[in-house]
Amino acid sequence: MAFKVNIFICLAYFVVVCYANGDTEWWKHAQLYQIYPRSYMDSNGDGIGDIKGIINKLDHLADIGADAVWLSPVFVSPMKDFGYDISNFFEIAKEYGTMDDMKLLVTEAKKLGIRILLDFVPNHTSDQCEWFIKSVNEEEGFENFYVWHPGKPNPDPTNPKNLPPSNWISVFRNSAWTWHPDRQEYYLHQFLPEQPDLNYREPAVREMMQRVLRFWLDIEVDGFRVDAIPHLVEADVDDDGHYPDEPKSDLTEDEDDYSYLSHVHTREREETWTNIFEWRKTMDEYSYFKDTKVIFMEASSEMSIVMKYYGNATHEGAHFPFNFDLVNVRAGVKANQLKTLIDTYMSSVPEDRVPNWVAGNHDQPRMASRVGPELADGIMMMTMLLPGAAVTYQGEEIGMLDQSLSFEDTQDPQACKDGPDMYNLTSRDPQRTPFQWDNTPNAGFSTNSTTWLPIADNYETLNLLAQKAAPRSTYKLYKGLSQLRRSDVVKYGDLKVEALDADVLAFSRFHEDEGTVIVLINTGDTIKSVTDLHLKFDNLGESLQVLVPCVNSEWDSGDMMLLNEIMLKPYESLVFKNSVGLLTTSIITLLIGVSITVFNLFFIDV
Ligand code: NOJ
Repeated sequence: MAFKVNIFICLAYFVVVCYANGDTEWWKHAQLYQIYPRSYMDSNGDGIGDIKGIINKLDHLADIGADAVWLSPVFVSPMKDFGYDISNFFEIAKEYGTMDDMKLLVTEAKKLGIRILLDFVPNHTSDQCEWFIKSVNEEEGFENFYVWHPGKPNPDPTNPKNLPPSNWISVFRNSAWTWHPDRQEYYLHQFLPEQPDLNYREPAVREMMQRVLRFWLDIEVDGFRVDAIPHLVEADVDDDGHYPDEPKSDLTEDEDDYSYLSHVHTREREETWTNIFEWRKTMDEYSYFKDTKVIFMEASSEMSIVMKYYGNATHEGAHFPFNFDLVNVRAGVKANQLKTLIDTYMSSVPEDRVPNWVAGNHDQPRMASRVGPELADGIMMMTMLLPGAAVTYQGEEIGMLDQSLSFEDTQDPQACKDGPDMYNLTSRDPQRTPFQWDNTPNAGFSTNSTTWLPIADNYETLNLLAQKAAPRSTYKLYKGLSQLRRSDVVKYGDLKVEALDADVLAFSRFHEDEGTVIVLINTGDTIKSVTDLHLKFDNLGESLQVLVPCVNSEWDSGDMMLLNEIMLKPYESLVFKNSVGLLTTSIITLLIGVSITVFNLFFIDV
């Protein structure tokens, strides 16, 4: 009786623990998809993408296997930096829809098993934000909401205006300090002057940003991508009330360029982590009795610093900081560089933390334009089949290319500031053009006569519909990889990476029950014969079965290839499995099973 009671208690405990924890694993192998809402789908014909448009196209996200979607900002904003200048953190921008649309999106996406994550922009607000206006007017409680300083006395007696408080430069060029005529002080902005930096030394700011997180968690979003986290906190004034200047970096002689200085006082200050730990606590609090709520950090820094975002032995930090290593890969990359990139990253990720691979985003040139459409297939295989979470920027699943735009069509504030001669160097618009759904006018994105950014010239041939119909396409490759991601070998398998020669990268994922998946990528422009795979990887057997070929391959999924006769065309990439090895393993397993049964029958029972 006591035994039964104990079992019952154990079962009840198990059920309670499972329920209390919710799904704690979903993000660890997630296929995360970034939507740039302005360019995804326009539902109301104004030429700008919106939330209803996303709802209308949820089937696409389910079709390509997205587990979660993060939306670039959809909050009220004057759109000086297209939503990264928020004037009301608690409301949806009219051009994107309403709060009801957002709630509907969360509900409808959940029905398809897709989680919605929002962009959390904690470093700065819009200069139109009520908090900033109150701070300009020094209203009670808001006096120190932003970073204000009277500036340095001007040595020129004829000029009454003080000099900026320090030499700090904005990421978008020029001084990071702007004089405010009403308050008669400088304010800090590490991006546009219209994006004043919040002051994280002010407890009220920290409380307010916690309110923001809770507000959206209360409508059941599943987490946040955290914007511009390295910039969150800056050095404080010294005892004399001065901000310290930053030293020169020697990277450029252009005094207005962000890289002119070494950012020792404005990036990744220790206080940044205190804030991350506080946000993480909020996530954990909301995860109790529910599925895990996540925070992912946008942090491109040197590896040792990126790793700090995970937290430490006493404090949990981000679920993961994005790994932008693949975003930095360019045409001409060599196999050993890719091997070093993977090995360095994997050995840096602290034990029991989750790795991740980002293929692109709205700030970087598109993958197919960076490395060429052919090698892009191989990089996509890396993104999707290396251990951990995989992050895809909208349009990469059909291999969209950057669209070069005229200065007149350019919208990115960073590029507009640079003027007609230089805008091309910094513009992020080429990777932000609307999604190419089909070959109808405006690529099926909008019924308006114009769109906020022009549609890319190639939309009649490069679009989702055409790729669905084609026997081979980037879309089909992507779907194949997405399906493969569901297997235990990709989720949990061991990783081994080899550069077979200067051009050919090989990596394997091995799982005891499922055998080996092996990926070969020819990064070069010549034909390569691969003969020594068996020397580098164990248990491959005599032949390999093609699982996912790149778009230009002559091989089909299911084809068998003898191990010592593998030839790779220029830039060809292939995913294989060791089917023979698997068969052998199965036969051996069967034989062992039969032997044990026979042994039991004849010996144990006697
Ligand atoms: C990073 C965002 O990705 C980028 O688009 C934006 O301009 C800056 N942060 C400023 O918020």
